[in-house]
Amino acid sequence: MKKHVVFFEVVGGTDKGPDGHRADTMPMVKSLEARGWTAEVIFYSDEKKDEIFEQVAKSADAYVSRINPGNLKSEAIYFQMLRDLCEHGVKGMPHPEAMIGYGAKDALVKLRETALVPEDTYAYYDIDSFKENFPKVLKNGERVLKQNRGSTGEGIWRVQLISEIGDASEVPLTATVRCTEAKDNHVEEHDLEAFMTFCEQYIVGENGMLVDMPFLPRIKEGEIRLLMLNKTPVNVVHKKPADSADAFSATLFSGAQYRYDEPEDWADLVHSFMSTLPMITERLGGYDLPLIWTADFILDTDENGNDTYILGEMNCSCVGFTSQLSLSENVADEIISILTQTETVEQ
Ligand SMILES: Nc1ncnc2c1ncn2[C@@H]1O[C@H](COP(=O)(O)OP(=O)(O)OP(=O)(O)O)[C@@H](O)[C@H]1O
Ligand SMILES: [Mg+2]
Repeated sequence: MKKHVVFFEVVGGTDKGPDGHRADTMPMVKSLEARGWTAEVIFYSDEKKDEIFEQVAKSADAYVSRINPGNLKSEAIYFQMLRDLCEHGVKGMPHPEAMIGYGAKDALVKLRETALVPEDTYAYYDIDSFKENFPKVLKNGERVLKQNRGSTGEGIWRVQLISEIGDASEVPLTATVRCTEAKDNHVEEHDLEAFMTFCEQYIVGENGMLVDMPFLPRIKEGEIRLLMLNKTPVNVVHKKPADSADAFSATLFSGAQYRYDEPEDWADLVHSFMSTLPMITERLGGYDLPLIWTADFILDTDENGNDTYILGEMNCSCVGFTSQLSLSENVADEIISILTQTETVEQ
């Protein structure tokens, strides 16, 4: 083993401090060094990808990706380099396919047969299937539509039917819907046809898709974010949406209140989620769990009146821990533990 780890960053983007790094990068480098390892940061660019590949393939046991894909010109070229590195035996933290699989909104649909996701959750990859299905499911109750490409609530819409539609088998295109965007909880009313036409932009183009899931009214009690280091939950953020009628967003910008809890405070959730990890890994392609990732949950009630936790989304491409930099110590321990275990298995 080389006992050397490379952190990939990219120049620019709003996540950088005065030294040009993400605030949580150098703490991880230092924590590895404190354990007798070496680590370096490489700034990725498409132009230098061959050179970077050679260097990392030769020198490192693992890479840790700390690039927000939104800060790249083309994520496809970067992901291909990561794929090549993994094939060459460098441990991907995470593997690019895991980044794609866990991070995409349709991960929910891949987990639909489990208790984590309501059965009537759908993904639309083309406009026709959206037009075909959405008016039917909206008839059964409020929905949340999620675009894949945004973040911080952009293009995430709560959709409520306002018009009386009698016993029609689907919501007519002329019916009025009340639409609230999670970005800022602002409300717009449209006829269904106009709103659905507006949503077509989310389906077309690279990585375009819309996920359609039931609106979970207990979002009022908060969204529960588990921060995971590989298979270990390390902290919980409880995000309570602003207290107004249509508000459903857990983003800070929309006025949600954040509280930091310990995993022990959410023992039921943690326990049941841990037991589903092997199944999640399998359904999302069999890649190792990401190094640093999050899973967000919303409370629901099952048919026996018991609390259940519904998965709202997962993030893993570049989860930050700037507000708790001491976690770099846990991250370093986790990296070393993953690499030394892999080595033992391979011997
Ligand atoms: N099914 C649902 N029922 C009720 N509220 C929901 C539902 N799905 C999402 N929300 C609310 O909408 C917010 C935004 O949704 P989501 O987190 O999926 O989108 P995002 O834009 O990718 O956010 P992030 O920036 O966290 O990645 C959530 O934080 C939650 O408050
Ligand atoms: Mg979210």
